[in-house]
Amino acid sequence: MSKKQEEIYLEKEGDRWYTRGEHLLNSEDLSEHHKHEIEAHFRYFDKNKMAPKRILEVGCSNGYALKIYKDRYKDSECFGVEPSSKAVKEGNEKFEGIKLFVGTGSDLSRFTDGYFDIVLVKGVFCWIGRDTLFKSLSEIDRVLCKDGHLIIGDYLPEYQIKNRNHHLKEEEIYCFKTDHSKIFLSSHIYTLMYREVEFWEDGYKGKFGDNRYEITIMKKSYKDYYY
Ligand SMILES: C[S@@+](CC[C@H](N)C(=O)[O-])C[C@H]1O[C@@H](n2cnc3c(N)ncnc32)[C@H](O)[C@@H]1O
Repeated sequence: MSKKQEEIYLEKEGDRWYTRGEHLLNSEDLSEHHKHEIEAHFRYFDKNKMAPKRILEVGCSNGYALKIYKDRYKDSECFGVEPSSKAVKEGNEKFEGIKLFVGTGSDLSRFTDGYFDIVLVKGVFCWIGRDTLFKSLSEIDRVLCKDGHLIIGDYLPEYQIKNRNHHLKEEEIYCFKTDHSKIFLSSHIYTLMYREVEFWEDGYKGKFGDNRYEITIMKKSYKDYYY
């Protein structure tokens, strides 16, 4: 049986991605894109007079975003799960007040049901193999409390497309670009609270193809759905 994509991330691609440093991952010195994304979350919390208490980030890299959360919400508990042991080690050493674990979204068994009021999944669903996607969605749903918020940042392409990770020659792994929030929303267990769509630099010139990104905030609530 071929290896699952998440196994390849745990074995090597997580560390390799982190080592390639494709993103700037210092909480002090973020790219405009990352800054804008986290500011959008905080704007939503402010508007709704919320102060997150227990935050989980799935695919957190070195936890730079969690650190920004922790600095703003000092009383919060901030946890992250990430396949790259290198990113986890560096983040745990560098950022005080957050706790990161090596793992993937399909197994959040170290956390109890409904523990978190915020689950953050930024740039990660697209990298989860389709064989463990539903397991991961289910785990994320399990650990998020009633009325908690699920925050997704991911590709929101014009059409569904999978792009091969060209860094990995010996195994085939893909970036699956599709509307992941829709899976939660179509369950009607989640309600859309905020959605912002942005385009990568060269993305929107009359045609955006797969270059569009979503910042989506959903509340785990079906209170107003059923008659
Ligand atoms: C594009 S990076 C995004 C990192 C970070 N969330 C951010 O916004 O900068 C994708 C991250 O997802 C991680 N990842 C890949 N597969 C995963 C899985 N099955 N579960 C959790 N994280 C995964 C990768 O190791 C990598 O850190």
